[in-house]
Amino acid sequence: MSEQQNIYPVRDAIAAKAWADKEKYQAMYKQSVDDPDTFWGEQAKRIDWVKFPTKIKHTSFDPHNVDIRWFEDGTLNASANCLDRHLEKRGDQTAIIWEGDDPNDSAHISYRELYERTCQLANALKAQGVKKGDVVTLYMPMIPEAAVAMLACARIGAVHSVVFGGFSPDALAQRIIGANSKLVITADESVRGGKQVPLKDNVDAALTRDGTEVCQKVLVVKRTGGEIEWKEGRDLWYHEQVDSQPTDCAAEEMNAEDPLFILYTSGSTGAPKGLKHTTGGYMVYASLTHQYVFDYQDGEVYWCTADVGWVTGHSYIVYGPLANGGTTLMFEGVPSYPTHGRMGEIVDKHKVNILYTAPTAIRALMAHGENVMDSSKRDSLRILGSVGEPINPEAWEWYYRVIGNSNCPIVDTWWQTENGGIMIAPLPGATDLKPGSATLPFFGVQPALYDSEGNALEGAVDGNLVITDSWPGQARSIWGDHERFTQTYFSTYQGVYFTGDGCRRDEDGYYWITGRVDDVINVSGHRMGTAEIESSLVAHDAVAEAAVVGFPHDIKGQGIYIYVTLNDDAEPSDELKKELTQWVRKDIGPIASPDVIQWAPSLPKTRSGKIMRRILRKIAANECDGLGDTSTLADPSVVDELIEHRANR
Ligand code: WT7
Repeated sequence: MSEQQNIYPVRDAIAAKAWADKEKYQAMYKQSVDDPDTFWGEQAKRIDWVKFPTKIKHTSFDPHNVDIRWFEDGTLNASANCLDRHLEKRGDQTAIIWEGDDPNDSAHISYRELYERTCQLANALKAQGVKKGDVVTLYMPMIPEAAVAMLACARIGAVHSVVFGGFSPDALAQRIIGANSKLVITADESVRGGKQVPLKDNVDAALTRDGTEVCQKVLVVKRTGGEIEWKEGRDLWYHEQVDSQPTDCAAEEMNAEDPLFILYTSGSTGAPKGLKHTTGGYMVYASLTHQYVFDYQDGEVYWCTADVGWVTGHSYIVYGPLANGGTTLMFEGVPSYPTHGRMGEIVDKHKVNILYTAPTAIRALMAHGENVMDSSKRDSLRILGSVGEPINPEAWEWYYRVIGNSNCPIVDTWWQTENGGIMIAPLPGATDLKPGSATLPFFGVQPALYDSEGNALEGAVDGNLVITDSWPGQARSIWGDHERFTQTYFSTYQGVYFTGDGCRRDEDGYYWITGRVDDVINVSGHRMGTAEIESSLVAHDAVAEAAVVGFPHDIKGQGIYIYVTLNDDAEPSDELKKELTQWVRKDIGPIASPDVIQWAPSLPKTRSGKIMRRILRKIAANECDGLGDTSTLADPSVVDELIEHRANR
């Protein structure tokens, strides 16, 4: 990426009305890092507390005692912040616009209606014995009930664990077991791109796995009326449990540090980690970032295209926009159905002002040419956002020009599941844009770049991105495994949070995320642990060994490239490739579908037996000239054989 490219200065018209202009951003940022107690004590007032906190920041990144607390003596309820406090002024305002998979299906849900539906479900959950601190797993389509379920859990102090509807029964079972979850909320089927996805069948399959006995009840939303199995005593229809409940339910008074949700994400080693997010700091951070980064103004229609199964959906479909009394659009379908013009048509239909989507979606549209958006005008748009992976300048320019009619600033937002909210991003009225750069840190965020020895690097430089001090939205722990939390994030470099990302800072202090530096790959904005896919593959009878790496993919950002060494009695064949592909899809989910499988008679290893992934990544990327030093390999000829049969050229 060259720095000799277009700069898009802040537009006067945006700056004039924005929540922050250049000076205000500078001043607020300075105070947020110089005097976090005053800054965050002031910002805490943006949400409603039962008891306002007297203690603001109490955090330590010391690896012997990682301890993160914000607003620790305050009490509040997250659902009351998203609902109750808006009723007086905004009872009739639309809280959620729901757009179905079918373009003729949509609904507007007012704050009052959302409040009532949430209270009814909260009462139904209580009737099933769900109590404060219990974990409820949500495995749901993108329907309003997903938001209702999150808010209903929050209302009674239950902790939600949303599992993306594209995950397999095994992945779901693993998460139910990991969180010791008593109850699952799901739907008969979800609908995406005109096709049904059998959510309830998947739950049934998950609950046959050992260890899931803890889960006693399954609440089922009737979405399609499709045929499903029914287990008496365990399965309950959502509408039968909910519709007759009272439409009020007192919100539980929660401590700021009580858990609000668990969300699983993949890391470089081991099983997915359940990040624990708590209540007070998360709510302050989600709502503040939503207001400032998207410059959200009262009455605007805001659409984040993520799924609620990811953290983006948590913070920027549900909690951030609703805490701010916004109107948030929730889309059930996919951007390519019924045609590739759908996204623009939705923008026009609902007069969307702010659109927040992912580079992979933009690249997929780009591949269909300049005219792909011709079925819509999109003149309601004011701000565009990007998240999930680095956006290449070409896709940025296309997003700006074709989707935004060269009229809307793009906020490229860098953050992670662990962060709770946006960390590095422009503010529309304050930050000049450089396509491909996430630009500057948000209030309270102190990025630094370290070399591999842990030295802080100054000036314009490339390094490993760390964050040197806590911010309120940060995950507090890994559910049930604080030691792993410490090991994963606070032990690579002492005393700072390690993001796992590589990054460059330019001479203007702008940050350019270059991608993961660990064994995590980012496929269409979804994080995959290569170790997870490898352990799935070696569980197959035919497989002796497997190594998984990412490679550059035009649409997905990264694709999944797999090297497989077969057992002696297995024969390589196209059939077997298909079987292995299905195996991984079934084990983890369609998002882990291999793009390329290459048979590897053996893998390049050091003399101590460590797989040289650096070399495998180069071969997968078809960059075979610059393989670097292979002299430490036990058998360098292995590499020649892999190059000769490489699949991507
Ligand atoms: C990883 C986090 C919370 C956002 C959704 C993904 C990559 C995310 C950007 C961006 C460059 C980005 C990073 C990060 N990433 N946003 N704007 N520019 N890279 O959350 O699944 O926790 O993944 O996504 O590599 O570490 P996630």
